[in-house]
Amino acid sequence: MRLDVRDNTHVLVLTGAGISAESGVPTFRDANGLWEGHDVTVVASPEGFANDPRLVWKFYSERRAKLVGIEPNAGHRALVELEQRLGDRFLLVTQNVDGLHRAAGSTRMVEMHGNIRRTKCWGCDREPFHDESTYLDKVPVCRHCNGPLRPDVVWFGEPIAPGAMDAVEEFLGRAESLVFLAVGTSGLVYPAAAFVHVAKQRGGATYLVNLDRPANVDGFDHVVIGPAGRELPALLSAH
Ligand code: OAD
Repeated sequence: MRLDVRDNTHVLVLTGAGISAESGVPTFRDANGLWEGHDVTVVASPEGFANDPRLVWKFYSERRAKLVGIEPNAGHRALVELEQRLGDRFLLVTQNVDGLHRAAGSTRMVEMHGNIRRTKCWGCDREPFHDESTYLDKVPVCRHCNGPLRPDVVWFGEPIAPGAMDAVEEFLGRAESLVFLAVGTSGLVYPAAAFVHVAKQRGGATYLVNLDRPANVDGFDHVVIGPAGRELPALLSAH
């Protein structure tokens, strides 16, 4: 199967943890996934951070440390090639916080759940900043307000990254002919899980590449079951 891309087709891509799995980044909900053995309300919610910020920093610091030396794979690169072909008729929305799409070369991209290599302040609204430090047994403090710093990722119960939905709306608003492609995501976390329905309401053709059948699989017109690193380059290859 090939993605049906014509001269006026706009392609909206949504990615989740599955696209980074072949780079060696653990997913969230598979066996040995990140959430296995972790209560998300303890390590990934505002309440959890208020309660035990040290533990939350330990969790995210360990994830930061594990990203050192991790490289994008053929799935990330296939999306860069598609972007280069389509230009402004392409938008990538990722739920991943690992920065691998940017490392591969994607530019028309929205990180809707933030980026683990950025830190922001819990107490004031200073700009989030690049930060690869690990804080395994202490909570870093803001030099502007002395409040605790936190990873710049979206936690359960928080709104998605500012501007993310606006970018999607703006893209959909100028899409004459729409293709939606989801890759490596379990279809359980909203609003991303609803994108397929939004795309269908707008008359879009919907494609999925995933290792197994996700919760929202029925919304897709075309389903490719297999690893993204193998299936995406084939699906996106130019005619
Ligand atoms: P999940 O771990 O929930 O789902 C990953 C999906 O990728 C599963 O459906 C796997 O079958 C599939 N998968 C695994 N390896 C794959 C491969 N090599 N190729 C293709 N597919 C593969 O991850 P997400 O859907 O990204 O949010 O999770 C969504 C959000 O829930 C995350 O952004 C995170 C999490 O809790 C927050 O932290 C706010």
